[in-house]
Amino acid sequence: MFKMVSAMVRTLIAGNWKMNGLSSALSEIQIMRDQLAELAELADGADCLVCPPATLLSRVASVAGPRLRIGGQTCHREDSGAHTGDISATMLAEAGATYVIVGHSERRADHGETDLEVAAQLCAAQGAGLTPIVCVGESLPEREVGDALTVIGRQLQQSIPDVGQSGQNLVIAYEPIWAIGTGRVPTPEQIGEVHHHVRTFLTRRFPDHGAEIRILYGGSMTSKNARRILQVADVNGGLVGGASLRAEDFMAIYRTAIDPD
Ligand code: PGA
Repeated sequence: MFKMVSAMVRTLIAGNWKMNGLSSALSEIQIMRDQLAELAELADGADCLVCPPATLLSRVASVAGPRLRIGGQTCHREDSGAHTGDISATMLAEAGATYVIVGHSERRADHGETDLEVAAQLCAAQGAGLTPIVCVGESLPEREVGDALTVIGRQLQQSIPDVGQSGQNLVIAYEPIWAIGTGRVPTPEQIGEVHHHVRTFLTRRFPDHGAEIRILYGGSMTSKNARRILQVADVNGGLVGGASLRAEDFMAIYRTAIDPD
């Protein structure tokens, strides 16, 4: 259940700022940038990423420095065209992003995004040179009736194309919907069961490199529970919402990731 140290997989601590246009955003980013510079020697095995709202992307990218990566929160499946209000993966890349979250449960709920739509966004992201972070996760009723692994398996099957290069440059995030923003966190056994299931899927679909694709856990992760979560086998990092808004909280999680014992 608990992991052996894996030299192959770089941990990723990713922040999802959601629809929070913080007035202090740039100063929080500067603090993160400075702390990452101080931790540089220790942090050889862990990446740090912040996904701000699209309106802040280029300003955040301009102060982030070389060690803090920047990502979008969604992207359109098309590269350009008549899609009022939408943003393409290429536009995110031009603004300084190197990652993009796709298929977050809030996008699925608010905008009716389906697994097939997520698959199209994944391809658009990879086509623009971004690394997509594909979110999967069950609702509470689905978990309560014992369907969690079935639901997640279906999401993976349908949102990760088995053609071309879709397994290269890919991150998966397991985010149980009932854990997002609730303070309710699955047990290490529950997280381990799902991450093992995701890993099994990945190694079958991508025999050459499925073992190296990062699988993040997301849902009420904080500096208090991060150590326990990051120690679970096949957890290769975290997707952090509320606790990523302030540099102090977020960097405390990052420090746990670079010193998990
Ligand atoms: P949370 O959000 O950490 O605030 O629960 C995580 C997410 O939705 O990505």
